[in-house]
Amino acid sequence: MKIIVCDNYKDMSEKAFLIFKDALRDSRSLGFATGKTPVMLYGMLSSECASGRISFSDKVSFNLDEYYPISRSDPSSYGHYMEEHLFRNIDIGRESIFFPNSELSGENSVRLYADAYRSRGPIDLQVLGIGHNGHIGFNEPGSGRDSTIRLVSLSGDTIRRNNARANMAITMGIREIMDSGRIILLASGEEKSEAIRLAVHGGITSDVPASFLQEHSNCVFVIDKAAASKL
Ligand code: GLP
Repeated sequence: MKIIVCDNYKDMSEKAFLIFKDALRDSRSLGFATGKTPVMLYGMLSSECASGRISFSDKVSFNLDEYYPISRSDPSSYGHYMEEHLFRNIDIGRESIFFPNSELSGENSVRLYADAYRSRGPIDLQVLGIGHNGHIGFNEPGSGRDSTIRLVSLSGDTIRRNNARANMAITMGIREIMDSGRIILLASGEEKSEAIRLAVHGGITSDVPASFLQEHSNCVFVIDKAAASKL
């Protein structure tokens, strides 16, 4: 894995933007993360698309995860977040946006999302954030290397930190993430430094799901100084 240490959040977002933009040309299927970390990156992609310098019209997108159960219109859903920060600002076709439908039964939602992924995946270009406990997507500690799209229970820590309205989620598994052609992981702030240290220098273990990325052949960590402070 390659590590790029940036001065601050803005610098991290700009560097990630340039890497994403460059990789976009050869990528058809995109994987998006939510959370506060990629907000500025999504803003930059929105502006770039508005000015006609990039286009998403021939892309398909998958999101990493969604709370469960949650209504699509709930402002705290990840579906709502993606609309706000990216989808409504870019020229991607509505029918090309794939998201877990958390209004269905868990079983149906997982089946439909897995079917959509099977016919259009794997992901060419995946954006990732990282949780304080080393989670990626909602693959909490304990998630195995072979885990796939599924319904999961969130840890008490994640529910508290995310102010989550649901205690479950549907997430891409470690396997789908690892099958991505290229991965850009973003992290900002001192509170992510321990998770970054363990992901980069710790053993490869399901206790720190992000540590599996050490085995990915095209993964870059774009992180600010504070997140890199324990490396
Ligand atoms: C959530 C999401 C993750 C995200 C993480 C970090 O738990 N499921 O995909 O990477 O939060 O969020 P933030 O960027 O807000 O720190």
